Amino acid sequence: MQEQLLSACAEAAALPDFVLRQFDRRGTEPDHRQLYRILQTGIRESVLTAGLKLPPTRALAHVLGIARNTVVHVYEQLALEGYVQAGVGRGTFVAAVGPRLVDRALAAVAALPARGALLSRRGGQLVDEAGAGRLQWGAFTPGVPEVRMFPAQVWSRLQARLWRSATPQQLSYATGHGDAGLREAVAGYLQGTRGVACAPEQVVITSGTQQSLHLVAQLLADPGDAVWLEDPGYWGARSVFRAMGLRLVPVGVDGEGLAPTPPQLREPPKAMFVSPSHQYPTGALMSHGRRRQLLEYAAVHGVWVVEDDYDSEFRYGARPLPALQGLDEHGRVIYLGTFSKTLFPALRLAYLVLPPDLVEAFARALNELYREGQTLQQAVLARFLAEGHYASHIRRMRSVYSARHDALIAAIDKHFGGVLPVIGGDAGLHLLLGLPQHIDDQAVAQKAQRAGVTTRPLSLYHVRQSAPAKGLLLGYGAVREEEIASQFGKLARVVQTFL
Ligand SMILES: Cc1ncc(COP(=O)(O)O)c(C=O)c1O
Repeated sequence: MQEQLLSACAEAAALPDFVLRQFDRRGTEPDHRQLYRILQTGIRESVLTAGLKLPPTRALAHVLGIARNTVVHVYEQLALEGYVQAGVGRGTFVAAVGPRLVDRALAAVAALPARGALLSRRGGQLVDEAGAGRLQWGAFTPGVPEVRMFPAQVWSRLQARLWRSATPQQLSYATGHGDAGLREAVAGYLQGTRGVACAPEQVVITSGTQQSLHLVAQLLADPGDAVWLEDPGYWGARSVFRAMGLRLVPVGVDGEGLAPTPPQLREPPKAMFVSPSHQYPTGALMSHGRRRQLLEYAAVHGVWVVEDDYDSEFRYGARPLPALQGLDEHGRVIYLGTFSKTLFPALRLAYLVLPPDLVEAFARALNELYREGQTLQQAVLARFLAEGHYASHIRRMRSVYSARHDALIAAIDKHFGGVLPVIGGDAGLHLLLGLPQHIDDQAVAQKAQRAGVTTRPLSLYHVRQSAPAKGLLLGYGAVREEEIASQFGKLARVVQTFL
């Protein structure tokens, strides 16, 4: 078998060498994009000349150590664009790419809805590697809270009252900082519950963590600057930073949180993105020692620490550790919070807590780029916090999620007790069911979806493509406690077929 593959490659000896020299398995560019780029450039620049035979897909996949399907798709794409020609039973050959052929190929591609031809390189990559799930409700969609229990009546009463007394300023263009009452309520809440050291003037209201991250990337880094990302980590941060042209440096996570290696420490990044209170998605709680080390490192090297504190209200045992921001004595931490998990995601309200000398620049940029709106909605939220509805909603939801969490653990125990590990299950709105390394977690998630259960494969949260950890993220925000056993039963039947 090995010999057959090698001789198949030898037939097209010039090609594997050419590809091997350029193909980087440790890089962050996905395999299919890399291989496509290398072959297409080779053909366009006539390094791979007309008539040259490409190796059989299986042989090339074997030599590169990638999936055969990846090679098949790349060959198909090249054929579609006129760069290669395939004859049944004959193999695939580099086509004669004269100007006329290139024009024809481009016209054919333009006629297709293929986004690669329409979008910029950055745009294509953003869409190709998008992480947001298409389904955002139902068992066990991660990242979604129980929106059916949102106190809509209280909200609409406050809203009606505020509309009756709406001021022209509330209905005109906003100034970029956010509603003054909301900034004050957020600062008070964060000081009281999260140990965040801030004055209301340091709070800037945004329309979601994604927008907060976009501002951070716009204002604090230039294209090509390095940013450390937890690996596995939040795809949303990865997408924003990549789209802004930053160089993503995946940094591993251990039981104490972000764990840079000595070589990584020798090259300080512009910024690091961390979720210390509940690492997403592993659930690791960053230790006190690690927090101190990272803050000291950031102060010495002038690194921005972007702290994502997205769901630490929900912890079912020990009290949450205070935010990293509260320990920062050098103004390096940018603290991000959101109302997406405590209230509902469609509200699109979140906030940044900034070192004082960054506030005006952020408000200005926010106003300049997005013309932020929803000012009355912000005022409603301010009243919702000030009148205590927010605190009581969180208390209520904490006990709802705690019961669901226990029900899910019981269901996992029943089907897989002692066989599959549960990781990071004592906080937040999701837990991780570990899978053996040989299992294709994306295939499990696809099959589960066909059985009516939504999960997200852990491997998708990795930046590095080689040997990502395997598992399934199971959210319990969008499934009632009494439905958990039967829904997990469906998932368990799917998982069993892979074990
Ligand atoms: C790690 C993490 N941070 C933040 C958010 C919230 O993002 P947003 O405020 O844009 O809804 C999410 C939502 O899924 C998340 O998973």
